[in-house]
Amino acid sequence: MLVRPSRVAVVLLLIIATILIRRSSDSCYENPGNPSSIPVKQLYLNDYGRQHDQKARAEIVEPSLKAAPKVAAEKAIVMGRLARDDVDWVAQDLPDWERYIYTVDNDNSTLHTAVNKGKEAMPYLTFIIDNYQNLPKTMAFLHSHRGGWPEAWHNDAPGYMAKNMLDKLKIDYVQRNGYANLRCIHNPGCPGEMQMFRQPPQGELEVEGYMLEVWQRFFNSTAPPHIIGTPCCAQFAVSRDQVLKRPLEDYVHFRRWLLETELIDDISGRIMEYLWHIIFGKEPVYCPGVEECSCQVFGRCDEYTYKAPPTQSSDTRLIEDSDRRRSQEVFQGQK
Ligand SMILES: *[C@@H]1O[C@H](CO)[C@@H](O)[C@H](O)[C@H]1NC(C)=O
Ligand SMILES: *[C@@H]1O[C@H](CO)[C@@H](O)[C@H](O)[C@H]1NC(C)=O
Repeated sequence: MLVRPSRVAVVLLLIIATILIRRSSDSCYENPGNPSSIPVKQLYLNDYGRQHDQKARAEIVEPSLKAAPKVAAEKAIVMGRLARDDVDWVAQDLPDWERYIYTVDNDNSTLHTAVNKGKEAMPYLTFIIDNYQNLPKTMAFLHSHRGGWPEAWHNDAPGYMAKNMLDKLKIDYVQRNGYANLRCIHNPGCPGEMQMFRQPPQGELEVEGYMLEVWQRFFNSTAPPHIIGTPCCAQFAVSRDQVLKRPLEDYVHFRRWLLETELIDDISGRIMEYLWHIIFGKEPVYCPGVEECSCQVFGRCDEYTYKAPPTQSSDTRLIEDSDRRRSQEVFQGQK
């Protein structure tokens, strides 16, 4: 196949840049602030281009493996952010986690998504796809807010602080269970948030009414369940082994839908929010008891004192769009 000169030039640049980046990151290899994967600017929007991107990387990464065995991270935080969000707290509060923080609205950032679409689902899937060959052993997928009420109302920890959540996280449980929702409180989400056959569709934005078409596209060979339920909000921890139970193509397939869908972000993002636990091997209704969950996931066993906030409902904007099928340039990892 003929390779266009421009592509050759891009690949050459990529090689040089990557070697330089590797050199500088090798020298502080122990520093958890340096993600072990090589951040390479995403040059292509489509997956065809991405494959070339991956190939280019594979070729240049291999030789240096001999010099310094590349060990995947033990544990890493994956996060989406707006350029204007302050995420310095992640390094300060959680220094022993590696960090993969994707800016969704600035292509100049080392880690960024191809587009700002689908809320936190886009950075989450982008991370998995880009790092599939070298995933951290434990991954925590988080929102960009540090804590506090009301902005981090759905953090299930004292002060709604992400730090308090992750400091207590039982890594061995995540490894054993494969997946753990970082929220144990059932409201909202359990016992049956999404009922895709309910007529007329209910709930915020009637999101469940769009679930069937997505289910059929994602899991065509599996009968669509009548009820999907899990604690809300799309913050969870997963083991590498669990992620690898699906082939890379599945995640590419999910992200392709996210890139293509005409549904507004509030709907596509919410649909993904209620599919993560299924993607990672749990049954459609996955609502462990609050006490059991708190004990297993956070080791808060005898002293379960956490009190639910005064109201559990998020501050939702009403979308004035009758058919709710258009993309919008708004990222809200924070609901
Ligand atoms: C990215 O960098 C280019 C070149 O330096 C600059 O023109 C552009 O404004 C930057 N974009 C953002 C969003 O900062
Ligand atoms: C599911 O797969 C079958 C067989 O591959 C195909 O005929 C059908 O159209 C698919 N359905 C959807 C909704 O994609």
